[in-house]
Amino acid sequence: MNRQPVLLDKAYLLMNHGPVTLVSSAHGERRNVMAASWTMPVDFSPPKVAVVIDATSFTRQLVDASGAFVLNIPCRRIAAQVLAVGSVSGRDGDKFAACDVAVIAEPAAPAPLIAGCAAWLACRVIDEPDNHARHDLFVAEVTAAWADADIFSNGRWHFPDDASRTVHYLAGGNFLASGEAFAVDA
Ligand SMILES: Cc1cc2nc3c(=O)[nH]c(=O)nc-3n(C[C@H](O)[C@H](O)[C@H](O)COP(=O)(O)O)c2cc1C
Repeated sequence: MNRQPVLLDKAYLLMNHGPVTLVSSAHGERRNVMAASWTMPVDFSPPKVAVVIDATSFTRQLVDASGAFVLNIPCRRIAAQVLAVGSVSGRDGDKFAACDVAVIAEPAAPAPLIAGCAAWLACRVIDEPDNHARHDLFVAEVTAAWADADIFSNGRWHFPDDASRTVHYLAGGNFLASGEAFAVDA
C-alpha cells in the first residue's frame, strides 16, 4: 500500500464514480465504522460531500458528538467486511475486532482510516440541524484526502488487479466491482 495525499480540489474524483463507502467515526474512547452507499460529492473547492447517516445508528451518535467522520473507499478485497459492518451495530460491541477490520493511524484524520481501502476522505460536518433531523443528511467539508497511489494517482483510477477494484452496492449482499475506464470524445 502506497498511501499518498490527494489535492483537495481533486478529492471529488475519489467518489465521482459512486462507490460504496465506509464511514468511520470516533468520540472520546469510542470508535466505529459502518457501510454507507448513499453518498456523493457536492462541491469542488472547498470539496464537500453528502452522506445519509441514519438516526438510529451508533455512527450517528458519534458523528453528532464529534462533528466529523472519515469516508473510506473500500476495495473488493474487503467487501465481506463492508457487508458485515453494515449489518451489525457498534452499539452492541466493537466491530473492528468482531468484523476483522484493520485500521491505519492518521493524526490528521478525526477517526481511524480503514485498511484495505483505495482512498480516504477526512470530513468535518457542516452544521445544518434541519437536514440532519429531517433527512439524516450530512453535508461535510473534506479537510484532507489520501489515496493508494497504486490504485489512484494523477486524478485517475488504474486498478492493478480485481481485488483492488472499488465496489458498488446493489442489495442483499450483492455488489458490482468497478470496471474499466473508457473515454469518449466531447
Ligand atoms: C452496503 C451497505 C450500504 C449502506 N448504506 C447506508 C447509508 O448510506 N446510510 C445509512 O445510514 N446506513 C447505511 N447502511 C446501513 C448501516 O451500515 C447499518 O445500519 C449499520 O449497522 C450501522 O452501524 P452502527 O450502528 O454501528 O453505526 C448500509 C448498509 C450496507 C450493508
